[in-house]
Amino acid sequence: MTAPLRLGLVGHGIQHSLSPRLHAAAFGIAERIGSYTLFDCADAADAVAVFDRLRSGELDGLNVTTPFKALALQSADAWMRTAQHRAGVFTQPANTLFMQENRLVAASTDGFGLTAALLGAQVDLVGKRVLLLGTGGAGQAVAAELLDLGAAQLRIANRTPGPAQALVDRLNILWPRHALVQTWGDARGLAGVDVVVHATRLGHGQTATPDAVSWIAAQLGWLPWSAWKTRPPLLADLLYADGLTPLQALAQTRGLPLDVRLNEAPVYEPRIHPQSRAPIGILQHFGEAMLAHQAARAFELWTGQRVDTQRMLAAILPGLRSDG
Ligand SMILES: NC(=O)c1ccc[n+]([C@@H]2O[C@H](COP(=O)([O-])OP(=O)(O)OC[C@H]3O[C@@H](n4cnc5c(N)ncnc54)[C@H](OP(=O)(O)O)[C@@H]3O)[C@@H](O)[C@H]2O)c1
Repeated sequence: MTAPLRLGLVGHGIQHSLSPRLHAAAFGIAERIGSYTLFDCADAADAVAVFDRLRSGELDGLNVTTPFKALALQSADAWMRTAQHRAGVFTQPANTLFMQENRLVAASTDGFGLTAALLGAQVDLVGKRVLLLGTGGAGQAVAAELLDLGAAQLRIANRTPGPAQALVDRLNILWPRHALVQTWGDARGLAGVDVVVHATRLGHGQTATPDAVSWIAAQLGWLPWSAWKTRPPLLADLLYADGLTPLQALAQTRGLPLDVRLNEAPVYEPRIHPQSRAPIGILQHFGEAMLAHQAARAFELWTGQRVDTQRMLAAILPGLRSDG
């Protein structure tokens, strides 16, 4: 009989994480038994103590989230290459840890999750102009994927300019003149973007209450909403919420259409590229789809088993068809 899997999430303030539900679904789909524990760590020493339990074989796999993603990378003996790591240009914070040949390996599955969720929604980025908001762990993890998917131009805006410039400089080594800094608060050049990827913490953990929407409107009112009403870009919000996220609700009040394609049939295999098709407007449940895809990828790294992401997604979006 296969031994029970002992998995978990290391982070702080993680009691509302959707990961336990996703991995409970993965256990069922993969016909495995196991547990997924939330390790809420007060500090780095606590987090390293949990990483050590993975090293010693007491645990089989870990997810890692804020504020320990950079620590996970530093603590590991090796890291897994993704589009970000091509030619060793740069590394990124890790969200997954696993053991391989007695080495603690750090990986980020966020880029994979983004790619799979975009392609699952039949979004073709080839030749497109993309705006990325945010250069934290998630923004760094997905920036190179956006160029790897064929984006012709990537404008990167971050409240603090230094990280945006550093990311642009690194991306332009691999994709010369494709990335540029977009000053936070300056909408010049944004009216014609085709895709907006939101990766800041604005609205994190919030539902789209009128207060939350007014607050995010004050933070992101500088975006060219009236131009976007006439020519809507695709909005992919990495955040998730019960219903719309505050940013999705703001976009809806500013006239962007709602696209519910992710309620249909996201695919798991990120190498299957759609024929050119450009959905527009707010991609509902994009954050949940990305979360399910990155979780499925982590499960595969821990177990070698691929699981049906659509069924995992159904575990967190009860209204979703899981037979698609
Ligand atoms: N769906 C998924 O699978 C998935 C995966 C990963 C992350 N996420 C979500 O993506 C979001 C970002 O995650 P992360 O790991 O990148 O977090 P992080 O590393 O803490 O980065 C935070 C980002 O948000 C920006 N920010 C924070 N407060 C802001 C404010 N008041 N105004 C403007 N910008 C602000 C930061 O800008 P500064 O540099 O100026 O501080 C930075 O760019 C979170 O909500 C997370 O849940 C979703």
